[in-house]
Amino acid sequence: MSIASPLFSPLPTSLDYVRLSGDELVERIQARKRHLNAVILGHNYQRTEIQDVSDFLGDSLGLSQEAADTDADVIVFCGVHFMAETAKVLSPGKRVLMPDLRAGCPMADFVTGTALRRLMDQHPDAAVVAYVNSTAEVKAEADICCTSSNAVRVACSIPDDQPILFVPDKNLANYVAEQTGRKNIIAWEGYCYVHDDMVMEELDRARAAHPGALVVVHPEARSELLEAADAVTSTAGMVEMAEEHDELIIGTERGLVDRLAQRYPHKTFVPLSGAAICGNMKLNTLAKLAWSLDHEQYEVTLDEDIRVRAERSLRRMLDLSGGWQAPSDEERRLELAGVRPHGCGCA
Ligand code: 13P
Ligand code: SF4
Repeated sequence: MSIASPLFSPLPTSLDYVRLSGDELVERIQARKRHLNAVILGHNYQRTEIQDVSDFLGDSLGLSQEAADTDADVIVFCGVHFMAETAKVLSPGKRVLMPDLRAGCPMADFVTGTALRRLMDQHPDAAVVAYVNSTAEVKAEADICCTSSNAVRVACSIPDDQPILFVPDKNLANYVAEQTGRKNIIAWEGYCYVHDDMVMEELDRARAAHPGALVVVHPEARSELLEAADAVTSTAGMVEMAEEHDELIIGTERGLVDRLAQRYPHKTFVPLSGAAICGNMKLNTLAKLAWSLDHEQYEVTLDEDIRVRAERSLRRMLDLSGGWQAPSDEERRLELAGVRPHGCGCA
C-alpha cells in the first residue's frame, strides 16, 4: 500500500482514528512513519500496543541517548512531556511530536525555574542536580542532570564537600544520600504519586504470596520500601533482571510489569501494587499516535536560550564517563552568549 493511497490521507478528526481497528492503525502508523522518516520512541510505561510499534523502548536514560543519536528527521515521543522536551533539547534540528500534549509528569511540575533560583540564591555554593523528570526550564538552571539509572554516579562526580540541591524527587534524593553516605544533599519536596503511593503492606502481602520471589523497587519509591527490597533499579534495570530471574515482585508502574509478564509467559512477575498506574503515560493511545503522525502534531518547541542551557546539563550527564567539573566563568559566559562549550560532549 503506498502513501498516496486514500487509506493514508489524514482523516479529518481524532474520532475518525478511534473508529479504525488496531491493525488499520498499525498499518497507517508504519506507512506514515516511513514517509516522514520518523522514529517512535516509547517509554517502558506505555500501553502494550504502543510498545509494540515503538522503534526504541527504554528508560529515561536510554531514550535520551537514542534521541541524541537518531538519524530520523522526526521523533514521535510516546512518554510524558519532559521526555519529549529532552529529545528536543538534544536534537534541536529535528521535529519532535507528542501524540497528546496533556501527557505531563506531575512530579516535574513540582518545581519551576523561578522557585529553584530562589533556593539557589540561599545556597550559592551548591551544585544543582536535576532529575531528568523536570522541565527544560529547570534543567537549564542545573549543573548536571541525572536519571534513575545514574543518579548515584552523578552525585559521586560532585566533590564530597560541595552541597547538592537535588530536584524535584525527595525519594530519589534520599536514596542517593543513603547510597553515597552524603549528608549535604538538600532535597526538593517533590515526589511521583505512582511510586510514593506504594506502601509496605502491599510489599509484605506480595512477599507472603510469593515467598521465592525477589523484590525489585524503583528509586522513586519511599525509603522504607527501598530498604526492604532485594534490589533498587530503573525500569531498564528491571527489564534486565526479568531476563535473569524467574520470579519477581516489581515495584513500579504496572505497564512495565504487564509487558514483562506478556514477554515471559512461563515466568512469574507480579506488581508490588496493582494500583501503580501512571494515568499521564496512559494518555497516549494508538489512535492518537496515528493522528499525530498523519497531522504532524503536536510539535514540542523550546526557547533557544533555555534549550542551550538545558543541553549543557544533559550533555554533562551523558558525558559522565569523562567525570564532571563545575563550569568555569568563561564557559558560563559563552553558554549565556549561546556558544556551545568544548569538552562537555556537545556534538
Ligand atoms: P525510568 O528512567 O526508570 O524509566 O523512570 C522514569 C519515570 O518516569 C519513572 O516514574
Ligand atoms: Fe511522572 Fe511518576 Fe508518571 Fe513517571 S510514573 S511519568 S514520575 S508521574
